[in-house]
Amino acid sequence: MKRIGTKIVCLALALCLLFCLASCGQGSEPEQTAQDHVSNEAAPSAGADNTAEQEDDSAGEGRSLVVYFSRTGEQYTVGVIDKGNTAIVAEMIADETGADLFELVPAEDHYPMTYAELTDVAMREQNENARPEYAGEVPELSQYDTIFIGAPVWWGDWPMILYTFFESGADALAGKTLVPFSTHEGSGLSGFDKKLAKACPDAAVEKGLAVRGNDCQNRQDSVREDVAEWLSGLGN
Ligand SMILES: Cc1cc2nc3c(=O)[nH]c(=O)nc-3n(C[C@H](O)[C@H](O)[C@H](O)COP(=O)(O)O)c2cc1C
Repeated sequence: MKRIGTKIVCLALALCLLFCLASCGQGSEPEQTAQDHVSNEAAPSAGADNTAEQEDDSAGEGRSLVVYFSRTGEQYTVGVIDKGNTAIVAEMIADETGADLFELVPAEDHYPMTYAELTDVAMREQNENARPEYAGEVPELSQYDTIFIGAPVWWGDWPMILYTFFESGADALAGKTLVPFSTHEGSGLSGFDKKLAKACPDAAVEKGLAVRGNDCQNRQDSVREDVAEWLSGLGN
């Protein structure tokens, strides 16, 4: 009887030990994996915080860039200008937001300085669906979350050099917030926003701004106010 009792106690202890070992062994790995998963997504640990910071860095930390194209020389209604209308608006946006600026300068500047000749060249480029090259390197776009993109309306559209930029930057522009702006002499935004969304389907396109070229030269206080008001309404 005593031997049977001892055997039962031993068996119970052995089972207990086996159970403990089994549950420790089974629990350790999956628990860790599950915890890492949760801590990355919901309740970040110190390590996960660092990862999040690194991800934010590469996503641009809210930095903005203004990419623009603009011409000096003879322009419609303003005569010969030494700073382009779109350049003036681009600089205002950069002043207000702290954005970096990048001007798309043609690699070979084949654009005439007289208005009538310029309209001919621009028309030809549009008809040929040309992709004029630009000089220099666009800044590393991964640094930026928001990219303002501005140009004069040329024959109711973006100048073709902008399409060169949209296409060569297509991958880098995916996931960015793109904000179009135009200067013009009557056509307004001329569908810049829709054309931009079509050219960069994986980006979010914000509400654009259209400014009269003549106002850029002659009513800058008022243009600055319009720019500030437009900027304050973005993202709402
Ligand atoms: C080739 C060419 C085509 C233009 N086409 C239009 C147009 O279709 N609609 C419009 O409102 N203005 C048009 N304009 C006027 C320009 O959009 C306007 O003058 C603009 O502010 C010039 O900007 P910029 O000085 O930055 O180059 C055209 C000007 C040029 C040179």
